[in-house]
Amino acid sequence: MVNLVKIGVVGAGQMGAGIAQVCAQAGYEVFLWDSNPEGLSRGFQLISKLLSKGVEKGKIDKQEAEATMSRLARAGGMGDFSECDMVIEAVVENTEVKCGLLSELDSILKKDAILASNTSSISITRLAAATTRPDKVVGIHFMNPVPVMKLVELIRGLQTSDETYNYAVRLVEALGKVSILGVDTPGFVVNRILCPMINEAIFLLQQGVRPEDIDNGMKLGTNQPMGPLELADFVGLDTLLYILQLLHRELGEDKYRPCPLLINYVAAGWYGKKAGRGFYDYRG
Ligand code: 3HC
Repeated sequence: MVNLVKIGVVGAGQMGAGIAQVCAQAGYEVFLWDSNPEGLSRGFQLISKLLSKGVEKGKIDKQEAEATMSRLARAGGMGDFSECDMVIEAVVENTEVKCGLLSELDSILKKDAILASNTSSISITRLAAATTRPDKVVGIHFMNPVPVMKLVELIRGLQTSDETYNYAVRLVEALGKVSILGVDTPGFVVNRILCPMINEAIFLLQQGVRPEDIDNGMKLGTNQPMGPLELADFVGLDTLLYILQLLHRELGEDKYRPCPLLINYVAAGWYGKKAGRGFYDYRG
């Protein structure tokens, strides 16, 4: 375990809850907080459900599940992070929201605490510049579902110190995951490759190819566990659109232009699995 004892996680959605769970399972004391109290309760319910499933399947023993839950605390507000050694934010993928949050956390956290962002596309250099401790800001990008996926992308901003980066490397190891070092450019490594691939699948859908043919094509033809449309629904179409728009705007190449059909799905509120409807219908 790295020399961090208390970890704060902001955002209790599927990513934040997953990050809190794996940190608590690895032995860290974790404070989880969400600005939406119902979202926070849902996050705790999700963790509890996944741990119970793990016990049922014999993947973890009952004591470990109970010890994990006992290391997880519901923060009453961001003030509760003042004693944390590191805070990982996993809020909505939006530059202004994340900059505002990091700036606020910066004013609350102790001086030597590390601020990490689970951003999937936004510049770490830009996020770090919103704080007075840019050398202590690092990108730690987990994959969904966090308890299952082995990879964590680490991103250094221009200002990130070696010490901060090395802490992040050791934290990922302590979580039993594998890190890669991405470059601080929109989408880093995984989403730079993944999002255009999913976007292309949506263009095919727009041209009239059936969703099951697109997904079966990629599942059976390239051994992907989920087809690109199913994966888009899983990740969230709003998140996917935000990443594609950022890639398009900041890298300036037409190959990142979001498919109009994706834009319309998001306009309709069909965000994917979490909304009950995306490229597939989950309401039944
Ligand atoms: N949370 C936690 N655990 C989960 C889970 C969830 N949401 N969904 C499934 N699991 C667990 C199951 O409990 C099961 O665990 P077990 O092996 O210990 O019993 C295991 O995962 C396999 O699950 P299932 O047998 O139910 O289903 P599958 O075999 O179909 O696997 C999957 C489900 C792991 C989600 C698999 O379909 C998969 O790997 N899909 C691709 C996921 C992927 O590509 N993620 C990256 C997305 S990109 C990203 O996150 C970046 C972001 O910035 C956009």
